[in-house]
Amino acid sequence: MTLSSQPGRGRFITFEGIDGAGKSTHLARFVELLRARLGVAGKGVVLTREPGGTPLGEKLRGLLLNEPMHADTEALLMFAARREHVAALIEPALARGDWVVSDRFADATFAYQGAGRGLDVCRLGLLERFALDGFAPDLTLLFDLDPRVAAERRAAARAADRFEAEDTAFFERVRAGYQARVAAAPERYLVIDAARAPAEVAADIEAAVGRLPGVVDAVAAGAPAAVDGAAALQAIAGDRSPEAASASVRS
Ligand SMILES: Nc1ncnc2c1ncn2[C@@H]1O[C@H](COP(=O)(O)OP(=O)(O)OP(=O)(O)O)[C@@H](O)[C@H]1O
Ligand SMILES: [Mg+2]
Repeated sequence: MTLSSQPGRGRFITFEGIDGAGKSTHLARFVELLRARLGVAGKGVVLTREPGGTPLGEKLRGLLLNEPMHADTEALLMFAARREHVAALIEPALARGDWVVSDRFADATFAYQGAGRGLDVCRLGLLERFALDGFAPDLTLLFDLDPRVAAERRAAARAADRFEAEDTAFFERVRAGYQARVAAAPERYLVIDAARAPAEVAADIEAAVGRLPGVVDAVAAGAPAAVDGAAALQAIAGDRSPEAASASVRS
């Protein structure tokens, strides 16, 4: 049994995708909808980000986004910030029953430092085991987008940081890195076609949140899961505690 499947424990959801895919654009609404669903059950929703999420992690973020460094150093600092993030913020929130939504998590290191920078995935796996000891998100929303479209969106929106300044070939590799993660564990991901208009993407997000209690009902009725990511949604909505049951009935 994973930690996250313990009764009464919160759920951990991450947003992933290349820079400019639309994660931040849709996070706020996702969290707002989730709070409306879970609030009736007295559960909070914590919104956080990586690298960052803690005072130390935010300092490391400043270094990671701006200071030139060896790719190994970059990976080590990412996992150092992540270890602190889990210990100081994510784990305590989940333990008290709150849900946590993070703008990026470990998948980003496999995509950026692994596929993007070319670091060996097995070495990254060692760091992951050291830092996370099996801890992983219950559900990941992957915003999938052509890097050329993402670059146009970023150029219109803001100045580039150290990662955003990378070329299209880098982001092609990162995108492929994310897709490889999905292929290895498809039940954990909901892949979102981020090329569509914001309203269409938002409708997907809304549907995903709306399915949380709906999937509990489907599980109870023995109905098969029929959509991408449904297994993960089913898993995260599968807490049969009284609080979760009442949340599903009332929302
Ligand atoms: N579906 C969309 N269609 C067109 N523009 C979009 C869409 N989604 C987001 N944008 C715009 O693209 C830009 C980048 O979006 P956003 O900042 O949400 O990306 P991100 O995935 O959070 O990137 P980063 O990883 O760099 O933080 C913003 O200006 C946003 O308004
Ligand atoms: Mg963002």
